Amino acid sequence: MKNILYVASEAVPYIKTGGLADVVGSLPKAIDKEYYDVRVILPKYSCMAAEWTEKLEYITNFYMDYDFRSMYVGLFKCEVDGVTTYFIDNEEFFSTPAPYTDDALYEIRRFAFFSKAVLSALPVLDFHPELIHCHDWQSGLLPVYLHERFQDNPFYQGIKTVMTIHNLKFQGKWGIEDVARITGLDRSFFTPDKLELNRDADLLKGGIVFSDAVTTVSPTYAEEIKTPFYGEGLDGLLQARDHDLRGILNGIDYEVFDPQTDPLITHHFSAKSFRSHKYQNKTALQEELGLPVDRKTMMIGIVSRMTDQKGFDLVAAVIEEILQNDSVQFVVLGTGEERYQQMFRDLAYRYPDKVSANITYNEALSHKIYAACDAFLMPSLFEPCGLSQMMSLRYGTLPIVRETGGLKDSVEPYNEFEGTGTGFSFTNYNAHEMMATLRYAESIYYDHKQDWNRIAERAMKTDFSWEASARSYQEMYDWLIG
Ligand code: ADP
Ligand code: GLC
Repeated sequence: MKNILYVASEAVPYIKTGGLADVVGSLPKAIDKEYYDVRVILPKYSCMAAEWTEKLEYITNFYMDYDFRSMYVGLFKCEVDGVTTYFIDNEEFFSTPAPYTDDALYEIRRFAFFSKAVLSALPVLDFHPELIHCHDWQSGLLPVYLHERFQDNPFYQGIKTVMTIHNLKFQGKWGIEDVARITGLDRSFFTPDKLELNRDADLLKGGIVFSDAVTTVSPTYAEEIKTPFYGEGLDGLLQARDHDLRGILNGIDYEVFDPQTDPLITHHFSAKSFRSHKYQNKTALQEELGLPVDRKTMMIGIVSRMTDQKGFDLVAAVIEEILQNDSVQFVVLGTGEERYQQMFRDLAYRYPDKVSANITYNEALSHKIYAACDAFLMPSLFEPCGLSQMMSLRYGTLPIVRETGGLKDSVEPYNEFEGTGTGFSFTNYNAHEMMATLRYAESIYYDHKQDWNRIAERAMKTDFSWEASARSYQEMYDWLIG
């Protein structure tokens, strides 16, 4: 049995702000249990839903030297669906109202603490990992600490590390003075070949430099991040690590996202029955959200963090024109930058028959949108993988995406001549290109309904379950730990 520990800042079902939680929560379930024992470790956030905090079982506690103090580290655990998850408790760091805060220095302090606490906790857990799989910058210091101070202890010798980049945009950067002081790392670590990037300390860079292998969440993004446009200053390093950088496409949990059984949707359907049943989800949602109830109107969904990454400036540039001229309804769900939240609130106010703006985080509504809509708009500037488009495909809701990162790897553009494709896509980050693609989709929806339904059937039959990707992770684990 090979023991593997996933270290991350969020995972379903405990705590989620985005796709990272879906991945860390669902990938361990897909890894072959006969050969691998995959467990997860998270911060014990006090903002976790009570339904989960109540289930956590206290293991032990100890004190750890950190930032010139002796600090409390509590350990808890919980098992769900056969996967054991451990939790690191410290109220000073993890009793925030949401998992992340806007205070960049505090974020560095709490997740550097988390990384060190995970390594310090290993001897008192009932689990000795041969490989530690780190996810995103919040666990970037772990491979650094392992190399710097833990490896001299025989308990830690031979432990391998993997760094998975879910989003290169976030690197955990701050001034070297502070980071050196807080982490206790020697100044020799803060050079451009180690943690320094443009005179700052960069925690993700530390993880990339010191881990044994690096992965990211789609083959296309793995190529993109080696270029200056997507590389966020780390393209040179990623080129240098090319031989052990892999792009493994994410999957989604096919049990949770299943239009035939999903308890969160109103009407179930399959790739066979969607022609006669999917629309019932649409009319139910129209009714619920106060939109005119009409099964024929094309409904376009957006479920997203509202940031520049997701292409909202393209939407902002042309949505008014679309709403004035086209017969469509937009159902939007998301939170994020105030200017985008305000834009959708304002559009919903001025076009109440065409826009429903739901500026909130709501799991159940997200499923209803994936099930009810005809199309799903995701014109990202960059997209490491993207899960929403996979969820849409699974529910026969055709994605309209920009060809970048995992969107390019998961949505095959419709080719009307060959009768292939599962969605619609455009190449350049250009609002009018997006609008032309959306209008092309509208023309297929309204004028060639049979073709539309064939695309939807193909979309529902594509396989983005974890099976193939879990095998790729297993191959990598075998390569590292034999
Ligand atoms: P990212 O991780 O960059 O936000 P992904 O497409 O990988 O993008 O994953 C987003 C996940 O978060 C999906 O599971 C999506 O359904 C969910 N999600 C995003 N915004 C909301 C929201 N406001 N309410 C409910 N779920 C949301
Ligand atoms: C990040 C990326 C997203 C990806 C997710 C899970 O949040 O923005 O594209 O799907 O991580 O890997």
